[in-house]
Amino acid sequence: TPRIFSGIQPSGGLTLGNYLGALKRFAALQGDQAETIYCIVDLHAITVWQDPEELRSRIREATAAFMASGVDPRQSILFNQSQVSAHAELAWLFNTVARVGWMYRMTQFKDKAGKNSENASLGLLAYPALMAADILAYQATAVPVGEDQKQHLELTRDIAAKFNHDYGVNHFPITEPLIEGVATRVMSLRDGSRKMSKSDPSDASRINLTDDADAIAQKIRKARTDAEPLPGSVEGLKDRPEARNLVNIYAALADETPDQVLARFEGQGFGAFKPALAEIAVDALAPITRKMSEFMADPAEIDRILGDGAGRAEEVATPILERTKDIMGLLRSR
Ligand code: TYM
Repeated sequence: TPRIFSGIQPSGGLTLGNYLGALKRFAALQGDQAETIYCIVDLHAITVWQDPEELRSRIREATAAFMASGVDPRQSILFNQSQVSAHAELAWLFNTVARVGWMYRMTQFKDKAGKNSENASLGLLAYPALMAADILAYQATAVPVGEDQKQHLELTRDIAAKFNHDYGVNHFPITEPLIEGVATRVMSLRDGSRKMSKSDPSDASRINLTDDADAIAQKIRKARTDAEPLPGSVEGLKDRPEARNLVNIYAALADETPDQVLARFEGQGFGAFKPALAEIAVDALAPITRKMSEFMADPAEIDRILGDGAGRAEEVATPILERTKDIMGLLRSR
């Protein structure tokens, strides 16, 4: 059976992009066909400064979002990264395998470090080696993510291949990215050329998993669009990124293809489409928002679930880490 691993940073409120591109698919991948391991990557979050009190609460909130989206902590292993020390240890080993130049090429590093990259944390540069460690500590074979993580996953494959080559072993799998469906890149509601992001300064650009029905409806009503009616198929959406984004969101929420959605709305304008989209978005998200706040009402239970998940994760990761150290010639005598 394939072993699936993925993670989400607890570095801000989660968005509809995180839900459609990640959480909803994480839940769908659970079952007898695969072993699923999901992680709240707090060590990644601290590569940029986080207020400690706020971080603690964001970790719990992200855990609540996983469960409210249908990730079942009995079926999957659900835990936070910093409670399983194998991640940080394997990341160090990978720091000796990965090359500095690989890290400087990462577009996320360039974006996040900005102009003054000399002043970025060393952790922000090494971020992808920790991500490779997350995945390979479990010898995971498949990783569901949104499109923005593609370059990081290629680097994970490079690290695995270089390790196997340098030490003449076949120890780490070459992981498959699972970037599937119509919502692998949900765009901003204000600008069809930027992805929807928890770090966008404009709250109107995104739908948060904590938004209530009124806020969701208002953001969709105000979403930027063009003045053309909707075409009968997706070919007609070329060069209409905002329209395309709203149709994709509808399709992902309704578990339909964009062509099926357009077949129903052909010839109609956004005056008709937006209220329909708002309705389906509220129907899909309201139960998630409600369950999230129910889970958040019992933080001790969340902490218990994370502790239990960390124990189970460690059982899988520790022997793989030990074997890795052994391959590298690090003496084991206990
Ligand atoms: P993060 O926390 O930025 O995002 C979590 C997941 O949500 C997806 N996503 C989106 N999908 C579609 N449209 C969007 N607008 C959108 N925004 C975010 C992301 O692609 C991701 O799947 N480096 C990772 C976290 C990570 C990880 C890992 C992932 C750390 N270790 C190991 C997989 C495996 C990140 O920052 O994701």
